[in-house]
Amino acid sequence: MEFLIPDQTEDKKLIAQLMFNLIVPRPIAWISTVSSEGVVNIAPFSFYNGITSKPPLIMVSVGRRRDGSRKDTSRNILQTGEFVVNLVTEEFLKPMVESGKDFPPEESEVDVLNLQTEPSKLVKPPRVKGVKAALECKLYRLIEIGDTPMDLIIGRVVAFHYDPKLLETSKGMVGRLGGKRYTVVDNEIELL
Ligand SMILES: Cc1cc2nc3c(=O)[nH]c(=O)nc-3n(C[C@H](O)[C@H](O)[C@H](O)COP(=O)(O)O)c2cc1C
Repeated sequence: MEFLIPDQTEDKKLIAQLMFNLIVPRPIAWISTVSSEGVVNIAPFSFYNGITSKPPLIMVSVGRRRDGSRKDTSRNILQTGEFVVNLVTEEFLKPMVESGKDFPPEESEVDVLNLQTEPSKLVKPPRVKGVKAALECKLYRLIEIGDTPMDLIIGRVVAFHYDPKLLETSKGMVGRLGGKRYTVVDNEIELL
């Protein structure tokens, strides 16, 4: 099957389907932020990746709501300049998915989903207690991009918290597939 789009096309649904189903598996940034009123917000984003290690920069793409307004995550990052990327392993799969549903800004996913947090070292947003790794980040750049537009957020990692076992194996890590499908790393192949 081929689908050529040399310029603009109206088939936005198919383009979205192809983006979500062909760019897989995607790592998931489960992002905690704090609003200017002090409410802790947590939401997942899978258009996420590392950019460079010198300095350690990561990117996450945050779309807009249907009414064009910013999602809480983007708004909080713009207001405070700080966020934490929590890594998702299998035991956090369900609360991570739940946290992607719509919560009003004054309601914290942390309370509703019974999540526990612990303080970060260099930024205000806490990390999710029990995650295998968390990256404390400061906003490096926010680029408005695309038709809607959406926010391409680039963060500089200022602190890594991690289980040292992750330097040997990624087993148990969750990735996003197309639709509502996820994958858990259970098979690693080491090549020279
Ligand atoms: C696994 C998963 C991945 C997601 N990835 C993205 C993404 O890359 N970009 C995005 O804008 N929304 C993504 N979403 C949807 C947001 O999590 C959702 O809009 C959420 O309500 C935003 O919360 P907030 O308003 O608290 O920031 C994803 C949802 C799930 C469950």
